[in-house]
Amino acid sequence: MLAVATLVQGPGPLPRDTLPATLPLAPPLGFPDELVAPIGNEFTDERTALGRALFFDPLLSRDRTVACASCHQPEHGMADPRARSLGVDGKLSRRNAPTLFNRGHASAQMWDGAAESLEEQALMPLENPDEMALPVEEALARLRAEPRYAARFEAAYGALSRESLAKALAQFVRRLQLGNSPVDRFRAGDVTGLSPQERTGMWLFESRAGCWRCHSGPNFSDERFHSTGIGVREGVAELGRAAITGDAADRGRFKTASLRALALTAPYMHDGSLATLGEVVEFYARGGNPHPQLDPELRAFDATPEERAALVAFLKALSRP
Ligand code: HEC
Ligand code: HEC
Repeated sequence: MLAVATLVQGPGPLPRDTLPATLPLAPPLGFPDELVAPIGNEFTDERTALGRALFFDPLLSRDRTVACASCHQPEHGMADPRARSLGVDGKLSRRNAPTLFNRGHASAQMWDGAAESLEEQALMPLENPDEMALPVEEALARLRAEPRYAARFEAAYGALSRESLAKALAQFVRRLQLGNSPVDRFRAGDVTGLSPQERTGMWLFESRAGCWRCHSGPNFSDERFHSTGIGVREGVAELGRAAITGDAADRGRFKTASLRALALTAPYMHDGSLATLGEVVEFYARGGNPHPQLDPELRAFDATPEERAALVAFLKALSRP
């Protein structure tokens, strides 16, 4: 199977834009708050469309083989089916590419919170030597040379610049929302959408399994950083959040991941080390990976095989339309 082999070794064919033609601004069921755009990057369809075109364009990588969409693929819930993504020259990204849904409803970006806003995040993949490896100045020169882009930046932001490039990308990402699952409808009073098994899973999630302690709120994340022990090698945790804050207590802490789109976003965790949701549930049932900074909120729990399967079914229901 030559095609499969190529897909595994190179960045592979560029993913197509299979997202809906219009990305509604209204929050989906399950999200009480409207999206907020920062001053200077107010929503316009022109700006979103520009960001969308850029997101799927490999022009933003040094050798023109990698687009944002190479690692955030529509068919995979805007995540990457590989544990680590492939950047230019076959380089591997440091971590697993997460879903980009609902980032506009979040307060920190990246697994360690390296960026606060989407605007701050947007140019990081360009500057990252393992991802797109294209200096921003060079990206701007390429865009200036493309009449279709130069004119669109003029119209959307008045100028093509480092700032407007970041804003266009950020605006498109901000508009990617995912909610309105049977779980949201259940919570809103329509109890018909969840099977008895999924309801059992939801009950476990909210009680004995303790998931609710960190996976809370509309995006199933408390927007805080915890150590679950993922990435601990021989008792030593990766830096994680401590790389940003410089605080030793943050060692091994990573951002609580959103649980939306899980059915499509395997593998899981910041290093992509858990291949299935079944493995995720096993991991938590045994209380995570023990090490000195393990979060005290993480506790082993008893669950029968049926209950574990129910928890998986509930997690999958979160991404069912
Ligand atoms: C080579 C693969 C790759 C490419 C190309 C790439 N990303 Fe990512 N993206 C990742 C990885 C890996 C992470 C997680 C990085 C981390 O947390 O250390 C990530 C994280 C993010 C996040 C934060 C998500 C979260 O949940 O915190 C956003 C937003 C994002 N990328 C947007 C983009 C945009 C916009 C582009 C194009 C300009 C892009 N990415 C290009 C791999 C990639
Ligand atoms: C102490 C807080 C905490 C508790 C309790 C907790 N989680 Fe997590 N969860 C996290 C953090 C932090 C991450 C990211 C870990 C990493 O990759 O380093 C995460 C990641 C995940 C992921 C991976 C998502 C992805 O996109 O890769 C899933 C799935 C998940 N948790 C499900 C659960 C379930 C199910 C439970 C209950 C059995 C649970 N979590 C309990 C904090 C918690």
